[in-house]
Amino acid sequence: MEMNIDELNEKFGIEGEVGFMELDGDLPFITITNKYAEADICLYGAQITSYRPMRTTEVLWMSPYSVFEKGKAIRGGIPVCFPWFGPHASDSALPQHGFARTSMWEVTGVDTLEKGETCVSMQLKSSEETKAYWPHDFVAEMTFVIGDSLSVTLKVTNPSDEAISYTSALHTYFNLSAIENIKIAGLANTHYENQLDGNRYVQEEELLEISEATTRHYFDTEADCIILDPYFKRDIRIAKEGSKCSTVWNPGAEACEQMSDMPNDGYETFVCLETVNKINDQIDLAPGESHETTAVISVE
Ligand code: BG6
Repeated sequence: MEMNIDELNEKFGIEGEVGFMELDGDLPFITITNKYAEADICLYGAQITSYRPMRTTEVLWMSPYSVFEKGKAIRGGIPVCFPWFGPHASDSALPQHGFARTSMWEVTGVDTLEKGETCVSMQLKSSEETKAYWPHDFVAEMTFVIGDSLSVTLKVTNPSDEAISYTSALHTYFNLSAIENIKIAGLANTHYENQLDGNRYVQEEELLEISEATTRHYFDTEADCIILDPYFKRDIRIAKEGSKCSTVWNPGAEACEQMSDMPNDGYETFVCLETVNKINDQIDLAPGESHETTAVISVE
C-alpha cells in the first residue's frame, strides 16, 4: 500500500539527513543531505533527479521543462528503463523503455552507512498493473548509495517457476558545461550500433566528441567511461558492473526542438551515458535467479 509523506517520514526519515516531501507536482521525493553530497530521489520511477557532491556543481542534468505527472516520464536524472530498453521488441504500442520509470516504487530501507554515506532502497514488484504490459513475475530493487560517489544498482529477481528475459538501462543524464566542450574516454576500439542509420561500426577515435545527433549502443564493453569537461574543471567517471553495453545519446538541435519537455537548446548542456543490458547482453533469469546492474559515478 502506498504510504503518505507523514508515514514515510515517520518510518524512514533521519533527522538532518533524510526527509520526504512533495517537491515537483504531487510526486513524493526523498531528499538527502550528508557530509558528502545532497541528492533528491523521486519515488515515482525510483528516479534520482539531483546529485550534488559538496566539492562540485550538479552532476545530473534535469530538464527545466520536465513534466512531473503520473503516466509521463521525468526528463533527466537517472530514468530506470525496465523490463525493456528502447521500443518494445514486438509491440510498438507498449511504452518506450518499459514501465519502471512510470511506476510508483515502494521505499524498503534507508540507512546511514559506517562512513556516513546514505543508502536508500526501493522496490517494484509485479502486479496486475505491470502484467498488463509484461506477463511475468519479478521483483526489481533499486539501491542508491549517496556518498563521495553515487552508486546506483538495479537488481532483478525472478521469483516464478518460469524463465524470464529482460533488457534494461540506467539512462543517466549528465550535466555539462557545454556539449562541444566535452570528450568521452573509454570507448576506443569498441563496436557500436548506430541507431540513427542502423549500421554497426568500430570507434577508431581515442576520444568521442559529439557535434551532431548521436545514438550509439556500444556492445561487449565493461569499460569505465570518463566524461572530460575542462570548463567545469572536472572529469566524471562512470564505472559499472553487470552491464556489457553502454549507450551514448544526445538528440542534437533538430530532435530537441520536437521534444516538448526540453528547451530548444537543452541538448547543449547534457549527454546521456547509459549503463545498459541489451545487445548481446539481454538478461535471462532462471527461476530463483537474480541479476544486478550497477553504475558508480564519481567526480575526479
Ligand atoms: C535513448 C534512445 O536511450 O533514449 C533514444 O537511444 C531515445 O532513441 C532516448 O530518444 C530518449 O528516450 P525517451 O523515451 O526518454 O524520450
